[in-house]
Amino acid sequence: MVLLRLLMQIYILGIESSCDDTSAAVIRNDVICSNVTAGQEVHKYFGGVVPELASRAHQQNIIPVIDIAVKKANIQKNQLSAVAFTRGPGLLGSLLVGTSFAKALALGLNVPLIEVNHLQAHIMVHFIMDEEHTNPVPEFPFLCLTVSGGHTQIVKVGEGFDMQIIGQTIDDAAGETFDKAAKIMGLSYPGGPVIDELAVQGDPGRFTFARPVIQGLDFSFSGLKTSILYFLRDRLKEDPEFIEKNKADLCASIQSTIIEILMQKLRLAADQTGIREIAIAGGVSANSGLRSALAATREKHGWNIFIPPLQYSTDNAAMIAIAGYYKFLNGEFSNQSVAPYARG
Ligand code: KG4
Ligand code: ZN
Repeated sequence: MVLLRLLMQIYILGIESSCDDTSAAVIRNDVICSNVTAGQEVHKYFGGVVPELASRAHQQNIIPVIDIAVKKANIQKNQLSAVAFTRGPGLLGSLLVGTSFAKALALGLNVPLIEVNHLQAHIMVHFIMDEEHTNPVPEFPFLCLTVSGGHTQIVKVGEGFDMQIIGQTIDDAAGETFDKAAKIMGLSYPGGPVIDELAVQGDPGRFTFARPVIQGLDFSFSGLKTSILYFLRDRLKEDPEFIEKNKADLCASIQSTIIEILMQKLRLAADQTGIREIAIAGGVSANSGLRSALAATREKHGWNIFIPPLQYSTDNAAMIAIAGYYKFLNGEFSNQSVAPYARG
């Protein structure tokens, strides 16, 4: 079977358009040949993604992005074995652009169409291999903390990529908390990378914010957001320059609170399940503080940890392509009546 897989040259085009990044990637078996993303600057002016503008930008970007991805992979379109696309969850207008394009392309090329769940795809980046096939992959069962702009979940991944959500946020997501905190402080969107950068020079112990008291493996971030909002409102009354003067310490304190909340639940999940293979995925997994906190557990708790390369942390089509590859091997295809879903 392994030999057969090595001999087979399966090329899959992955298309991701669930939010504000138009991305296309080509994978040859489980090795990425190209991964091209067009971001959308326009949302910066609004402090968040404007759905209508996002779908319009996807319409403009999708053809050049796919064209470049195929060229960079050094193949012709007719060498593609299948077309994989993000079916959901995400913004419906954005998903429709990728879904319609994938359907038309698969039909035109007469190849299978493969739908992919965006959140499961984030986890699948841990199975992207380097050319030599030497990079380690998680062993089943493993836990993955999936932290993005819209979701915060702990997923138990069993044999055959069986994915079971064992904990999730009951309100805001971790990425959303970064973004909202940044907005309150007048920082640009997306707030996560901005806070990450400023936090490096700050003191994480300088300010304390409310931590949620929530049982089990679920998360809550809305209390923290409110706590940041009220704290800054009070301080600004005393000193209108408060944010400007304390920006780095504020960012470091907010970031370390979010990381502590995430790590506490992850430790609980590892203890409850007895699983020591631990991965992170999603946009917030790009956070340098979270990456170091997780790296520190290698020695402290004896965890075997998996941190995605930066280009596969935030939204990308390589993750759709690798998920598509495994679905291709299983013959899990979609038909032309498939429609995107916003939640799920
Ligand atoms: O996975 P992703 O690219 O898109 C969604 O599926 O939502 O995640 C986007 C989220 C945003 O909230 C963004 O602020 C956050 O990931 N993010 C970060 C960092 N880079 C991106 N959060 C903290 N630190 C970062 N370095
Ligand atoms: Zn995502």
